[in-house]
Amino acid sequence: MKVIFDDSGFPLADYDEVLSEINVKNLLKRETMPFIELPQTHELIEIKKAAEHLKESSDTLVVVGMGGSSRGAKALHQSVGLENEKLLFLDNLDLNLLSETFRKIDWEKTSFAFISKSGRTLETVTLMNIVLEELKNRGLLKGRVAFVGDKGNPFEDLAKELKAPFLPVPKEIGGRFSVFTSVGLLPAYFAGYNVERFLEGAYDLIDAPLPSFYLAAAKYLHHRLGRKIPVLMPYSSFMTEFTEWYSQLWAESLGKESQGQTPLKAVGTASQHSVLQLFIDGPDDKFYQLLFINKYPLDLRLPEKTSILPFLSNRNVSEIVRAEFEGTIHALKTKGRPIVRFELEELNEYEIGYLLMLYMVAVVVMAKFIGVNPYGQPAVEIGKRRAIELLKEKWDEGGLR
Ligand code: PA5
Repeated sequence: MKVIFDDSGFPLADYDEVLSEINVKNLLKRETMPFIELPQTHELIEIKKAAEHLKESSDTLVVVGMGGSSRGAKALHQSVGLENEKLLFLDNLDLNLLSETFRKIDWEKTSFAFISKSGRTLETVTLMNIVLEELKNRGLLKGRVAFVGDKGNPFEDLAKELKAPFLPVPKEIGGRFSVFTSVGLLPAYFAGYNVERFLEGAYDLIDAPLPSFYLAAAKYLHHRLGRKIPVLMPYSSFMTEFTEWYSQLWAESLGKESQGQTPLKAVGTASQHSVLQLFIDGPDDKFYQLLFINKYPLDLRLPEKTSILPFLSNRNVSEIVRAEFEGTIHALKTKGRPIVRFELEELNEYEIGYLLMLYMVAVVVMAKFIGVNPYGQPAVEIGKRRAIELLKEKWDEGGLR
């Protein structure tokens, strides 16, 4: 992958300078970035074993988990999987999603992974209870479920009770940083992704983290100038889940103590026909991250003689996407908008692993710049606690018992 800073608005020397002010190299260690400690061989073997156990009885895995407990796997699955339908996600408490998933699956051939670091998330526990009851009623519980979470969380006991696998997640690795633990790897193994290449991408970024550092430095220098809205615009409909993952990472990690950045998702080429006008000619309060994919498994060539636009004759579709991408960069540049561009070789496990790690490292560096703790999401707890209080009130009254 190439990460190109030529149009990012500052010379690299300026990034080096601010990075040295925070002693960035000192941040890249286990204490400040626990997620750079990738799983060891014996852990990978356990995760793979659990995936294979589920595969004995099923060809589809439904991942039940919220936020960081599902978004990473979903991003990998969408970008690399293309037509692979082996993974489904119950990642929202939405009755329509639930009934659609229940309708879609063949219960005889479906397993479930309940993923929650805390083992207490309202949505996950609600969905899990409904699914377990359904499996019980159908006599399908045996060999169909696995649990993932922090050691000692309530999932561990339940897994024991059900004689189901329980895969621990290192406690110090927070949800949105957990894609390279069993949280992301159990689904990845189940669906047959090349986990070794996925981890290799992450390792390579850790070995040479400069693109992460420069990305954070560029965002920070523009942040100081009032550009606090980082736009992420991949030129692929298969990366919208990656933009969801990124939005959570960037918003939840940095949005603290009245600080933060507001991530904005877009997708090329479609968003050129919706929000691009605003990007080019609206307020100069954004920073642009544009992703381009160099190679597709299949390219299509237009006929020798095209109707309506003759200059399209004999062109590959990929050439047209490239021209539109360059056109957007040109338009943004004419207005002096700062851009970092990413050129992915293709959508594969290595590139996605590299990119996920790149952003996780970058967000911790950015947090250091703006002076917030990237881990935890204390404000979200306020709403969670209130929802639980409301449910408990009814429960105490006996109304729902
Ligand atoms: O990033 C985070 O920590 C959160 O988004 C969590 O992943 C999310 O709230 C789910 O929590 P849990 O894994 O405990 O169910």
